[in-house]
Amino acid sequence: MAVAEALVFDMYGTLVDPIRIWKALEQDTGKAAPRIAEVWRQKQLEYSFRLTVMERYEDFERVTRKALDHALATAGSDLSDDKKAALMAQYDDLETFPDVLPGLRRLRDRGQRMLVFSNGSPRMLDAIMRKAALAPYFEGYVSVDEVRAFKPSPRTYRRVAERLGRPLGDIRLVSSNPFDVIGAEAVGMKAAWVNRGGGLFDWLGSPPDVVVESLTELAHLLEAGDVG
Ligand code: LAC
Repeated sequence: MAVAEALVFDMYGTLVDPIRIWKALEQDTGKAAPRIAEVWRQKQLEYSFRLTVMERYEDFERVTRKALDHALATAGSDLSDDKKAALMAQYDDLETFPDVLPGLRRLRDRGQRMLVFSNGSPRMLDAIMRKAALAPYFEGYVSVDEVRAFKPSPRTYRRVAERLGRPLGDIRLVSSNPFDVIGAEAVGMKAAWVNRGGGLFDWLGSPPDVVVESLTELAHLLEAGDVG
């Protein structure tokens, strides 16, 4: 693959882990914490899909906050507003997966053009890229906030192509989220699926030509020219 192909990276689930936030929930919710974190994430995505289908928009921070209320309610826990605010602050400080910084370093060193592309609001992305030390690897980010629709709306992927000034086919989305991979390919973007946990893909589409377990493996594949 030519270095000319630009890479755009999904944030939540791909660069940072939105599920490990269960550790911050554990003190107040005990054994239910991992399940609450899972429901929180699922509901966050469900709300983003539904708003987009309804042609309505609320930014990802509001969506995430509402999904937290839902997740807590399903577990029968209600936390104080201060505790919920602390959890939301934690969302700006999610952990990167262990392969992320080493992988990004290798990709940057080979002169790869890289951008973050996320549902996150500009405020969330500014915060997390600073706190997780991600900013130096990217030329910036595209937030779906610019088009007031969430992934996988085609408008979001097209906005990335506009920003890069490149045809969709010259851009590869790197994402752990199958719905995002399928959305990108549906409009002609390429994709790499980061499947760290040996998970299942999705029955709405087929896995892309590039499937890796880590960003270091992705860097290795690109260095070896094994991606076409
Ligand atoms: C994002 C969501 C999909 O970062 O995880 O865009």
